[in-house]
Amino acid sequence: MITIIGAGKVGGEAALFAALKKLSDEILLLDIIEGLPQGEAMDLNHMLSEQGIDVNIRGSNDYSEMKGSDIVVVVAGSGRKPGMTRMDLLKINTSIVKGVVENIKKFAENSMIIPVTNPLDPMTYLTYKVSGLEKSRVFGMGNMLDLSRFKQFIHQATGYSRDSIQALVIGEHGENMLPLARYSSVSGIPLSSLLPKQKIEEIVRDTRQVAAKVIELKGATVHAPANAISSIIEAVVKDTKEVIPIATYLDGEYGYNDVSIGVPAVIGRNGVEKIVEVELDSDEKGWFRKGVDSVKNAISSMEF
Ligand code: 2OP
Repeated sequence: MITIIGAGKVGGEAALFAALKKLSDEILLLDIIEGLPQGEAMDLNHMLSEQGIDVNIRGSNDYSEMKGSDIVVVVAGSGRKPGMTRMDLLKINTSIVKGVVENIKKFAENSMIIPVTNPLDPMTYLTYKVSGLEKSRVFGMGNMLDLSRFKQFIHQATGYSRDSIQALVIGEHGENMLPLARYSSVSGIPLSSLLPKQKIEEIVRDTRQVAAKVIELKGATVHAPANAISSIIEAVVKDTKEVIPIATYLDGEYGYNDVSIGVPAVIGRNGVEKIVEVELDSDEKGWFRKGVDSVKNAISSMEF
């Protein structure tokens, strides 16, 4: 069973993608707002009925219903509004996510948790610490979303098929994210052979900033995050062993301890099965370190 906590636009659409991909027979949408998860579940089930897909979606306001969940996605909390950074949500979302994770610990102590709430990296750290789960069972969705944007910019700039684009984004899901142009290619042809340096720098900058633009234009980001959530769930459920950048707790990897931040990892039935360490040059190390500093600074100010 998959449980999604937070039945707003992203939670609802993540349930939709997960159902269309048949990632579980049963999907539970939980929310504190009465009626919202129930109505969302009804609407989704009507769609699935017409599609002939036997996935049952339930909506509830009762945390105890998540008993037996294999995967719990945490989307609950306040979203980013126009003009806000993700870090601006730290205070308000710390207490919300802490309360949610305490309930997961109570009712779904054997699950894996995918935090999505912002600021993503500090919330992943909090979830790991409060849940008491093994670090391999808590992995935040942030860099995969950044990656979807980086790939789109590469597609736009080169004109090559989206299907040929391979890329990587690591680090903070925030102002210091690190789109790794050096590790990005079109069917193995390095980006540096396809685009001028200046264009690559522009793409990297745009990748860092584009979510704010979408929020300014339509109020929230929805489709890309929901898709990234379902892709990570798919890697676990189908045990694909794909290398996906996710936020996880570092214990010496990349030279850092006691922080959760985005790194590439092998994702399979056991969650984070391996963190993949890639060599970074001095500029890349600088961005990664700035991300770590920002997340550690947030962590030190959090009370949980
Ligand atoms: C995003 O990048 C706001 O973190 C959210 O879409």
